[in-house]
Amino acid sequence: MPQVHIRKAELTDAEAVTKLVNRAYRPEAGSEGWTHESALVSGDRIGQGKVTTAIQSGTVLVGSNERGLVGCVQVEVTDRVAQIGMLAVDPSLQASGIGKLLLAHAEELAVQKFNAQVGVLVVIAARTELVGFYLRRGYSKTDEWSQYPTDAGVGTPEKEAMLLTTLRKCFNNRLHGDRFSAASRLQTGS
Ligand SMILES: CC(C)(COP(=O)(O)OP(=O)(O)OC[C@H]1O[C@@H](n2cnc3c(N)ncnc32)[C@H](O)[C@@H]1OP(=O)(O)O)[C@@H](O)C(=O)NCCC(=O)NCCS
Repeated sequence: MPQVHIRKAELTDAEAVTKLVNRAYRPEAGSEGWTHESALVSGDRIGQGKVTTAIQSGTVLVGSNERGLVGCVQVEVTDRVAQIGMLAVDPSLQASGIGKLLLAHAEELAVQKFNAQVGVLVVIAARTELVGFYLRRGYSKTDEWSQYPTDAGVGTPEKEAMLLTTLRKCFNNRLHGDRFSAASRLQTGS
């Protein structure tokens, strides 16, 4: 796996994070692939204003190497529930372990700094490989479903009814092993 340094995002990262997220989620209109949603949703996933607000709230982590930003994740804890989102890895470096690493760090931050008990992720249900990725990281399916929001500025679903599924992970038990191996491999600036 490439060397990655993980730290809290700074305001100067906002433009690079925005570009990275949009490139990772929707690389090419209509194209297929398990790591992205180009075939399911069109338009940008996020605008720079929202990224700036998220960074200001101190909830965004970024991963970088000598070439610059390679990934990001957002983790927001309310009432001991960690909402994890905006997990994205530069397409040229996907499937090399960086996504797992960022997720593990987001969970670690949620537990250690904010005393989170539960992690929650909302995923497009049709992305079965991605759901599998999270199940292998210790998340479970729930019976919470919702419609892809069409008025939230997160793009336009290609199908009229695009279901989102909520996944949960209880942090009371030992976190998934990735977290510990990740922490031992990395220096973290967070
Ligand atoms: C989804 C994403 C964050 C994963 O990060 P990544 O760095 O590419 O993934 P990693 O290298 O950490 O892990 C890859 C996993 O996918 C699996 N995988 C690899 N190729 C696969 C394929 N063709 N089909 C299904 N799974 C595959 C690997 O086996 C590995 O899982 P495992 O360790 O449990 O076996 C990244 O691809 C991404 O940025 N996608 C676009 C943004 C996005 O969709 N984010 C999630 C929104 S909820």
